[in-house]
Amino acid sequence: MSRDLPRLRYHSQLRQSAHERREETHPLTWRMRDDGQPVFLEEYSKKDGYAAVKHVLNELSGKDVIEQMKTANVRGRGGAGFSAGVKWSLTMQGGDLPRGYLVCNADEMEPGTFKDRLIMEQMPHLLIEGMILGAYANNSRFGYIFLRGEYVESARALQRAIEEARAAGWLGDNIAGSGFDFDIALHTGAGRYICGEETALINSLEGKRANPRAKPPFPGQSGAWGKPTVVNNVETLCNTPAVMRHGAEWFQGISGDLSDDGGTKLYGVSGRVKRTGLWELPIGTPGEEIMDLAGGVVEGQSLKAWLPGGGSTGFLLPEHLKLGLDFDTIGKEGSRLGTGLLTVVTDQQSMVSLMRNLEAFFARESCGWCTPCRDGLPWTVKILQALERGEGEEGDIELLEKLADDQGPGKTFCAHAPGAAMPLSSAIKYFRDEFEAGVSHPRREAHADPIPVGEV
Ligand SMILES: Cc1cc2nc3c(=O)[nH]c(=O)nc-3n(C[C@H](O)[C@H](O)[C@H](O)COP(=O)(O)O)c2cc1C
Ligand code: SF4
Repeated sequence: MSRDLPRLRYHSQLRQSAHERREETHPLTWRMRDDGQPVFLEEYSKKDGYAAVKHVLNELSGKDVIEQMKTANVRGRGGAGFSAGVKWSLTMQGGDLPRGYLVCNADEMEPGTFKDRLIMEQMPHLLIEGMILGAYANNSRFGYIFLRGEYVESARALQRAIEEARAAGWLGDNIAGSGFDFDIALHTGAGRYICGEETALINSLEGKRANPRAKPPFPGQSGAWGKPTVVNNVETLCNTPAVMRHGAEWFQGISGDLSDDGGTKLYGVSGRVKRTGLWELPIGTPGEEIMDLAGGVVEGQSLKAWLPGGGSTGFLLPEHLKLGLDFDTIGKEGSRLGTGLLTVVTDQQSMVSLMRNLEAFFARESCGWCTPCRDGLPWTVKILQALERGEGEEGDIELLEKLADDQGPGKTFCAHAPGAAMPLSSAIKYFRDEFEAGVSHPRREAHADPIPVGEV
């Protein structure tokens, strides 16, 4: 990996300055600089970097780490919100079992999501520290960072940080004199959304075609090269050092009365707001506070709907902004917290066009393994295109609902198709009239037949 690549002008922007960020309230970002430059080893060490590794590897067992993560209630920040501590407790380890892998999922191709990038570009050592602790808990011998290929600046920062950590003895054999061995390699992907699905990611890492694998076995039992493999999101792993340094109760308490989930969340806003960007806030912060930080919607427009955490989550309405943004609260409204980065839609945007654009993305990114996804998504796009032109047929909306239902949870190998169905179902639920406005023809029976594959 060359270090001489030109520096890109665009950054994921953290909108809180250094004087607003404190260790007690901003465990992920308090060490970040205001100038957006990466914090490398010398500076990271001065800011207590790797203190958690020194403490844990010499004084605690892997099981202790897992228990602390459970008590802290760190829920996976990759989108599904599964407890990190529980996941780690299910990894096959110990006895005669081979030591496996810890994989950091840094694919981040979810539409409207740019949070992991911030951490990797500016705090690469925090991720390495989190991975060492995760590896220790899971008895992993080797770690991979599976990075979205377009994240050139992240790659550059991470590669330098890995080399620094290795030279300083934080990676390699006998880390901090503890007898624990662990090293990390950076693996850049070729930019496919499906590579973010953990088993497709493992296939891709092994050099195979990136389709998801059937589960069971789960990666924790048999993952990369048949060994126990833990896959965690960047932000999830980056929470581990703070939990281990300050204790699970402290971490769980950061969210106070806002949520049972522990810690903070890197929330973000994109779309038609005055100030797009990222904020580290207690998990469970109400959506309206986040919208206020983003300055509200752009002048002359009003809020129509919002996606709470990426393109694969369900639309919510302005009144839902009063809800606390955590996994359970948003789940109860029929959506998902997902990545926690809001996409804002205003009254001047067409839901039909927006959905056509989003479904075209999902159709393009399908791995082609299951019929409702491979054929159903292009069919969905074709209907949406017709509605957008005002040339839809009677029954098209019911057909869209049927296709979305066929792509629902449990009907396909992975959650890609359900993720594509969720925004569409909710868009039709809340804005059916916009879809109906695109219907101008009676139903032609021939069109009720499946379309030829590959026509879209
Ligand atoms: C189509 C698809 C894409 C995904 N993309 C990502 C991704 O880019 N990053 C990520 O962390 N998780 C992604 N996930 C979720 C992962 O499969 C997995 O749940 C996650 O990496 C687990 O980490 P966590 O428990 O720390 O959240 C994706 C899932 C699906 C179905
Ligand atoms: S749901 Fe789609 S992306 Fe997932 S395995 Fe099936 S075809 Fe592939």
